[in-house]
Amino acid sequence: MSRIHRNQKTAMLAALSIATLLSACGGGGGGTSGAQAPANALTGVAVDGYLQGATVFLDVNRNGTQDASEPVTTTDLNGRYVLDYSGITTPITGLPLVVTGGVDSDTGFAFVGQLSAPVEAARQAQVVTPLTTLVDAMVAQGLAPDVASAKQKVATALSLTVEQLSADPVAQIANNPGIYTTTVALQRSIQLLASANAASGETSHASQERVIKALATAIQSQSSPVNVSDLVASLPLSSSAEAKKLALAITNSVGGRLESKDRDGAKAALRAMDEIRARMESDHTLNLTDAAVKIDEERGKNKTRPYYYLVLNGSIQGIPGGTITTLTQPVNTAGRLLASNCFQCHGTGGVGGFDKIRGKEAAEVKEYLRKTASSSIMAAHAQGYTDAQLNAIITYLQQ
Ligand code: HEC
Repeated sequence: MSRIHRNQKTAMLAALSIATLLSACGGGGGGTSGAQAPANALTGVAVDGYLQGATVFLDVNRNGTQDASEPVTTTDLNGRYVLDYSGITTPITGLPLVVTGGVDSDTGFAFVGQLSAPVEAARQAQVVTPLTTLVDAMVAQGLAPDVASAKQKVATALSLTVEQLSADPVAQIANNPGIYTTTVALQRSIQLLASANAASGETSHASQERVIKALATAIQSQSSPVNVSDLVASLPLSSSAEAKKLALAITNSVGGRLESKDRDGAKAALRAMDEIRARMESDHTLNLTDAAVKIDEERGKNKTRPYYYLVLNGSIQGIPGGTITTLTQPVNTAGRLLASNCFQCHGTGGVGGFDKIRGKEAAEVKEYLRKTASSSIMAAHAQGYTDAQLNAIITYLQQ
């Protein structure tokens, strides 16, 4: 064991710590990305949820777009980036690090926002989130004299500490779920407002930038802490009242699940809230509740209305990927095999499918026998059984 000479050992440790330093990306914990970062590299993580395959570039001329001469890279599956800036000879501290595109790993949906952060002197383990985007906007707009005071201002306005502002929101979920909830509620409000206030022919980037500017201005004049919903409600933009409701519903549903240590439930809630927002963005006449109701209708959930209840009280009952239905099998299994046919459409065991057929309602299947087979798929299906077989199914389902 102790065959290694002392100086060899020291050299190995030194090499190890340099490697650790270079590859410490500060993102999400768990493993390094393998390849060592070059000496002149910015490292860190892009987070809404972790943004996979997002473009990260150093906006040297601060024009918001990636020019050919500007260093660019792509995030890995955990949102981490290693950006080689060795081609840049001018000072980079304070320049915007910009993130666009990719996929939000918490929802599986494409990320259509644009995030930024002013490059820190440390150049390592830097997070880029909707919160750092506000910091960057405050500096860029001249609303704060420097990065440190911009951070202080944004943190105080949103009841966070400066450390929390620069933390990885996903990595902090267990200890402080509020950072993540604030982050995702803020980003969704920005996207909804950008879409509602887009001028014709304007790029989504340009309209988002206007919303972010308005937020930075609101934060500058904010004298006491405010939550995201009240902050967006205060903006002089159209649909700010809907953005407030959206932020509240996200805080309620996603925040509520995280408080209950239900990370999967929080993801399901966020995914569903994103579907509702996308519906509002594609049809500007829909308010939050109407968009939720519309999705329920389109999915044939007029009775259980999971999206409506998600918006109303944060419930994830019936939301895809939300609650896992555990089944206890009834004692009498006589009609079970016959009934398993029904579960192909109505969900395992007749629950959690497109409609609930367990219990009293099971007998309604007989009503379909009076209809013609061509009148509905359900009628066609029911005709395939004998009366005795349908009775066996009903008895099984009614236990
Ligand atoms: C091919 C998919 C499919 C299968 C298989 C199927 N159903 Fe249906 N079921 C439907 C659809 C679609 C409706 C709604 C039809 C309508 O409104 O006319 C429905 C409606 C019902 C309803 C009325 C529900 C309500 O809330 O009004 C009952 C009860 C029902 N099915 C029971 C069954 C039973 C029992 C079986 C097995 C024998 C079965 N279904 C198999 C698709 C299916």
